[in-house]
Amino acid sequence: MKQTLTLAVGVLALLFVGAQFFQPDRTNPPLEPSLTIESHLSVPAAVDSLLRKACYDCHSNETRWPWYSYVAPSSWLVARDVEQARRHLNFSEWGRYRKTKAMTTLESLCDEITARTMPLSQYALMHPSAQLTQQEIDLLCEWSESQIAAILSADNNP
Ligand code: HEC
Repeated sequence: MKQTLTLAVGVLALLFVGAQFFQPDRTNPPLEPSLTIESHLSVPAAVDSLLRKACYDCHSNETRWPWYSYVAPSSWLVARDVEQARRHLNFSEWGRYRKTKAMTTLESLCDEITARTMPLSQYALMHPSAQLTQQEIDLLCEWSESQIAAILSADNNP
C-alpha cells in the first residue's frame, strides 16, 4: 500500500516536472500608440486605471504575466484566456475596430461587468483588487455610454 502511494507520488512529480517543458506563448505584441483606446476615445484617468487594474492583463498587449503563468498546468490556462480575451477585445488595438464593433464592445463591456462575468472569477480570485465595486461598475458603465454617444454624434457631424 505504502509502495503504491510512493509510486503514485513519484509519477505525479515526474509528470509535473515534464509538464514544465511545455511553455505556452507569453508574448506581448509591440504596442502601437496610434491604435490604443486612448488615441481613439476619451479615457479619463479614473477609467484608465480601472481598466488597467481589472482588464488589461487579458484584454491588452500590456499583459503583466503573473508567476502562475510560468508554472504548468496553470500557465496553459492563463495563456489560453489571454489569447481568447485579446481576440474578443483588445484595448491596445482599439483603432482596428469599425464603429459598430466599437459600439457593441462598449455596450457588452458594461453588460459583462454588471453581470459580474468580467473580470473572470479565477482572475478576481488571484487579484482581489480587480473585483469591481458597484461604484466602479457604475463609473465604467457611465463612461461606456458616454463614448457610445460620442461615436454616434461624430457619425452625424462628419
Ligand atoms: C483573466 C482574463 C480576463 C480578464 C481579467 C478580463 N477578461 Fe474579459 N474576457 C476574457 C475572455 C477569455 C473572454 C472571451 C471568452 C468569454 O467570453 O468568456 C472575454 C470576453 C470579454 C468581453 C466580450 C467581448 C465580446 O466579444 O463581446 C468583454 C466585453 C469583456 N471580456 C470585458 C472585460 C472587462 C471590461 C474586463 C475588466 C473589468 C475584463 N473583461 C477582464 C478574459 C478576461
